[in-house]
Amino acid sequence: MAVTNKRATVSANKPTFSEYTTYSQSRIDHYLQSVLPSATHPSGNQLIEAMRYAVFNGGKRVRPLLVYATVEALQGDIEKADPCAAAIELIHAYSLVHDDLPAMDDDDLRRGKPACHKAYGEANAILVGDALQSLAFEHICSSTCLPTDTQSQLVLILARAAGASGMAMGQSIDLDSVNKSLDINQLENMHQHKTGALISAAVAMAALCCQASARQQQSLMTYAKAIGLAFQVQDDILDIESDTDTLGKQQGADLELNKPTYPALLGLQGAKQKASELHSEAIAALTSFGEAADQLRGLADYIIQRKR
Ligand code: IPE
Ligand code: IPE
Ligand code: MG
Ligand code: MG
Ligand code: MG
Repeated sequence: MAVTNKRATVSANKPTFSEYTTYSQSRIDHYLQSVLPSATHPSGNQLIEAMRYAVFNGGKRVRPLLVYATVEALQGDIEKADPCAAAIELIHAYSLVHDDLPAMDDDDLRRGKPACHKAYGEANAILVGDALQSLAFEHICSSTCLPTDTQSQLVLILARAAGASGMAMGQSIDLDSVNKSLDINQLENMHQHKTGALISAAVAMAALCCQASARQQQSLMTYAKAIGLAFQVQDDILDIESDTDTLGKQQGADLELNKPTYPALLGLQGAKQKASELHSEAIAALTSFGEAADQLRGLADYIIQRKR
């Protein structure tokens, strides 16, 4: 599939989920190259290089994939969704750079390479996060393929998902909860903020670009809420079950910091059961979209089966 395809297609020669993933990853990587300042930026300092390191160091691109697969489900124009896919990935990349800092999770390894602060120092890593976040909003507002009222609505969705009503609040709850035992509702609230908010925003932004109906939006948000939580449940499971080489980040990091996680509260089997229930909820929410939502279904499967 060429990366220039304009309209998402539901056709007889529909790609498999694996082909769709490869296509979407290549599409967003290609697009992000045009969004990030160039590697030969004349600034002469390390900020640009470190920003590029944080964005092009091998992420799975799950959030851009969600944007594209949502557009596919709504049979919308994929080119209009590129700025959303890029913006959400920039916020996500920033969140990981800060998440790894010594003041937060103090992780040295990210995506199989030294974490940004190990490669470029803590001060640069803080600035990388700041700059990637600003770039995300700047990019939406300067995307001429989107009408200005759509741009401002997208900024609102993303700002709410990234800030004190979304990811940043989730990260704060996470840090406050170390060495404490949360109940299931508190744990779900933390996960919905720190991880679910950006995942829901990916779907909501794509739905807005495609002018989804209120009913379609409601179904898609039910899907997004379920897979957003499932994504973090699986992340918690992998911290126990996987290994550092496969994960590309330190296995056992949650246990070492005594983080509240689903396996810590429900046990490994209980956490797997929870992931499976959330998967079923997500799939059930897609019924009305028919086969147009097959890539969203594939993503739901991937989220609970992934090994990294
Ligand atoms: C890791 O996210 C952080 C969580 C929200 C659990 P991903 O697993 O999507 O990280 P990358 O982008 O693929 O490295
Ligand atoms: C981080 O959650 C979620 C973010 C908002 C970045 P984790 O701390 O569990 O992510 P990993 O395991 O380090 O990728
Ligand atoms: Mg963390
Ligand atoms: Mg972490
Ligand atoms: Mg984790």
